[in-house]
Parts: sequence; C-alpha cells; structure tokens
Amino acid sequence: MPLKKGEGIYLRILNIAHRGYSGKFDENTMLAFKKALEYNADGIETDVQLSKDGIPILIHDETLDRTTNGHGLVKDYTLDELKVFRTKSEKNVQALKTDALDEMKLIKTKIVDESKFMETENIKKLNLSSENHNTSKIGAYTRDEIEYFQRKGGEEIPTLRELLEFVAHSDLKVLNLELKNSVIEYKGLEEKVLIMIDAYNLRDRVIVSSFNHRSLVKIRKLDEENNKFKRQASTKKGIILGALTESILVDVPRYLNDISVECYHPYFPSILNKAYILEIKSAGIKVNTYTVNELEDMKKVIEVGVDSIITNEIEILNSLQLSI
Ligand code: G3P
Ligand code: CA
Repeated sequence: MPLKKGEGIYLRILNIAHRGYSGKFDENTMLAFKKALEYNADGIETDVQLSKDGIPILIHDETLDRTTNGHGLVKDYTLDELKVFRTKSEKNVQALKTDALDEMKLIKTKIVDESKFMETENIKKLNLSSENHNTSKIGAYTRDEIEYFQRKGGEEIPTLRELLEFVAHSDLKVLNLELKNSVIEYKGLEEKVLIMIDAYNLRDRVIVSSFNHRSLVKIRKLDEENNKFKRQASTKKGIILGALTESILVDVPRYLNDISVECYHPYFPSILNKAYILEIKSAGIKVNTYTVNELEDMKKVIEVGVDSIITNEIEILNSLQLSI
C-alpha cells in the first residue's frame, strides 16, 4: 500500500514553498502563499523589505521591474503607491497559464459542438462532471484557478502584516522570513519584523534568515535585550535564526555558534557532501536548503540529510515524499 504523507521516513523533510507556491503562481503574493497551504506545503519562505514610509512588504528584488508593472527601487515608493502596482507572471508561470487557458477554451468548444448529440456523456468523458468541476485539472491548473486568472490582471504586493494575519489563522508549520537587506540596509527592519512576529504570537513557527549575518546578530541582540525587560523572559524562547549562504564554509558549527544562529540555509549545490553535512547536523544545527526544484536534486539533498527543502515546486517534492 502506498505511504500517505507523513507516514514515511521522509516525514522529517519539511516542504517549504519558496516565495509561496512560485512554480505555479506569481511569487511573493497572497495568492502564492494561500496556494502553498492549499497544496500541502509545510512552510512558506518570503522576502521582506521596507517601503519608503517604513512598512515591511514582501518582494524579492530591490527593484519592481522583474515581477511587477512598476519601475525603479521599491524603497522609493510609499505603501499606498506600491499597492497600485500589479504583478506580472514570470515566463514559466505565464506559459503554464497560457497552456491551461488554451486547453480550457478547447474543452468549452468541444462541449458546445458535441452537446448537440450526447451532452451528458461528453461532459462525463471530459472529466467535468458537477462533483469534480472545480478541482479537476486542466493542464497544470484547476478550473477554479483558470477562472481566477481570467478575472484578474495580476496581484498586489503584500505587506508582512497581511501574511502574518493569514499564517496566524492557519496550521502552517514554518514561516521563513528572509530579510532582504544585503544590498539596501533598511533602517529599523529588524526591530519592526521582531515586534510584528510577537504581535501575531508566531515566534514558535518563524525562522528569520538573511544573507546579511550582521543583521542576524543585530536581531539576536535586540531580542535578548527586549526579553531582559519582560516578565515572561524566562519562558519566552529566543527567536530562531537562519544564516543564508552560497559558500562552503570551513567550520559551520563554530561559526553559527559564534553568531548565535540555530539554522544553516545553504544553496543546495554547496552541501552535496555527506561528511560536510554530518559535521553540521552532529552539532544540532537544522539544515534548510534552497532552492531545489528538480526531482533528482531533491533526492540528492534528502540523501545527504537536510531537514527542510525550500522549493518553488511543492507538488514535485510532495509526490516524491509520498512515493518513497
Ligand atoms: O531563503 C532561500 C532563498 O530564497 C534565498 O535566495 O535569492 O531566492 O531570496 P533568494
Ligand atoms: Ca528568499
């Protein structure tokens, strides 16, 4: 009998949706975050920056141009101004949408033609009966999703608050907030993010990560100072931090211990070495690797023993975990 999700040894591998379910939906949008949960991701990863008026918002690039119809630096726009822009799909997502929309048109035409003869039978054959009307797939998407694309012309840039509100009312296991502050040093970003995590009581489910390790050190210091003055300090857990890196480091356990960080977030090709990972995992460090989108690469990182996989393709990872 095939294993159900959660029954196999691969239960340990958390499936974290990179920028939401970005393999199929516009990255870093509320749609992509909601779809991550709907398609059974364990977690969501996203990128936090500040608007001109200091509001934490979720977008990957420092500029608006790749993912939205806006131009220029994110930091030069207030939240109200940013909310006017709409996302545009990346090429791969747009191709999936176009295929599904074409297929939908074809099905509709067929139904109209054939319905003259055997309407009921044909609808059954096309797998569009009333019971599975909304969840049956047409190409990569469900009928509901295609109808949604037909109605909408892109998504808004979400705020961190919108995402926290959603996660607080969900059973999502992990929310990985990456502070995008290696190129632009957003003043007050660390303070704001920390306060908001606690305002939504999400400390136990959040990992704050960054390529900017000085920023991680700053967060740890802020968190310790805040907790010193609070009555619940003795019971409150420290915020969980993750150090992002593309490099292979010499002594990861010592380095992470020195900067007081619990999780290692490496670029996946840098960890395909069992001895390297064993040394890190033996020190009790969680390894959450990014961004693994191909089935064969997923198998490789599972084999070396990672704890989580950050992926655009959450359905591929889930199918792998179900089939092993
Ligand atoms: O957090 C993992 C990954 O998102 C880091 O790289 O460039 O996709 O933000 P990037
Ligand atoms: Ca990221």
